[in-house]
Amino acid sequence: MNMTRQQKYRLIRQAEPGELRRLAELADSCAWRQTYHIQPHAGLLNDPNGFAYYGGEYHLFYQWFPLGTDHGMKYWYHVVSSDLAHWRDAGIGLEPGGPYDSHGAYSGSAIEKDGLLHLMYTGNTRDGEWIRHPYQCLAVMDANGSIVKRELPVIAEVPEGYTDHFRDPKVWRDGDSYLCVIGAQRADLTGAAVLYRSPDLVDWKFEGEISTSLPDFGYMWECPDYFELNGAGVLLLCPQGLEPDGERFRNVYQSGFLLGSPLNAATREFEHGEFVELDRGFDFYAPQTTEGPDGRRLLVGWMGLPDLEYPTDGKGWAHCLTLPRELSVRAGRLVQRPAAGLESLRGEERSFSAVLNDERRAFEGAEGNAYELRCTIEPSEASGGGVFGIEFRTGETERTVLTYVAGRRAVALDRSRSGAPVAPEYGTTRSCAVEGDNGRTIEFRLFVDVSSVEVFVGDGEEVFTARIFPDPASTGISFFADGGSAAFEASYWPYG
Ligand code: FRU
Repeated sequence: MNMTRQQKYRLIRQAEPGELRRLAELADSCAWRQTYHIQPHAGLLNDPNGFAYYGGEYHLFYQWFPLGTDHGMKYWYHVVSSDLAHWRDAGIGLEPGGPYDSHGAYSGSAIEKDGLLHLMYTGNTRDGEWIRHPYQCLAVMDANGSIVKRELPVIAEVPEGYTDHFRDPKVWRDGDSYLCVIGAQRADLTGAAVLYRSPDLVDWKFEGEISTSLPDFGYMWECPDYFELNGAGVLLLCPQGLEPDGERFRNVYQSGFLLGSPLNAATREFEHGEFVELDRGFDFYAPQTTEGPDGRRLLVGWMGLPDLEYPTDGKGWAHCLTLPRELSVRAGRLVQRPAAGLESLRGEERSFSAVLNDERRAFEGAEGNAYELRCTIEPSEASGGGVFGIEFRTGETERTVLTYVAGRRAVALDRSRSGAPVAPEYGTTRSCAVEGDNGRTIEFRLFVDVSSVEVFVGDGEEVFTARIFPDPASTGISFFADGGSAAFEASYWPYG
């Protein structure tokens, strides 16, 4: 993470002889390469972009800096899937370096129109004084996957009252026209989301801000997204500059949603409840959603955050995407489940069941570094004061710990002993209380990969996502009951 500005703002064709090969070899030899998550073959990945179902397949792009693990010249890299579980590389999607994206093809979204996938993104440019000038640009992909950029930007000016932090267009169809929300910073240095309308994705008219009850909520809102689901309106945003508040807002930047009535696009009024984080874990940012062919709302996030160092930075690659999640609104809450289709990653099932009373038991025969684990814990009636949980990626000294305090229905993920640390200055535990109506019992569904874990709690009421960097030999799993007894029931599926 210490390239010079000149090194960072180079295109692939400006690489030194052998530079890309060396980076790829370094990445290849890294013990923390993932198995079933989307990751860059080398270089740095960040936001998911252009997520869309098009031509019978899911298309997904990600922000990619090919020449190192810094945030440098961003490309869009393209991957394709028919089942949301197995992805194939489709190569570079957008190459920056034109007059309107000279310093990066930044984040954006995709929508099908006239049989073509339209990609709307922010062209990042810097002038001689290194002042940013963002442009909203358009590119079009045909059924063969060939992508052509439109010569001129479709939004060339930042509207009056906003700074040059103006980016990340997310487009959707509204009747016979299109709406687009863009992340913005007001001139008074507060964050906002603004709305544009277009009849054809080319002529965009500035409508104004989405009016929320959060006029002063961080200094910038990145990567907004808006959709309607089960009769509700949902605005996703990534506010930067929030102060930690108890268990909330512990990460360097936040990513969450406002759930409310459908947006009134004419007045831009959006009535909503409080801002809720999408993920209770450590490494989650800049998610993007799309609608599947069956109407389900799918979300993918970046399993990382800006401005932090990660243990793979010196190893030629950085970051991965989360697994796709399926969203729904239930009883006024946004629920996130692992996307249907991910079961196809499962190998042969092994199961475990036991009543543990103040003891710890290894899950014999089940261990590894890439698997899915589903576990139900039912504390006995007298065990309200007990702490129950799962330790995984355990080794001689390492362990990642998921705990459940039955009396408070509190869940915590502790990565203080997970291996190489990540940003310990932001704390090594994340926790939250889980609402829900199923008494004391709790269900966890864990997706463990070589250097990550995603924990779905209950029926998708909460998710905890974390990168972890254990020793390859730390592969154990055990269950524990402290200060009470509980019935554990678990299924384990190795990846593959
Ligand atoms: C969020 C973000 C976006 C921007 C992109 C650049 O992580 O900063 O706002 O478009 O990354 O890579």
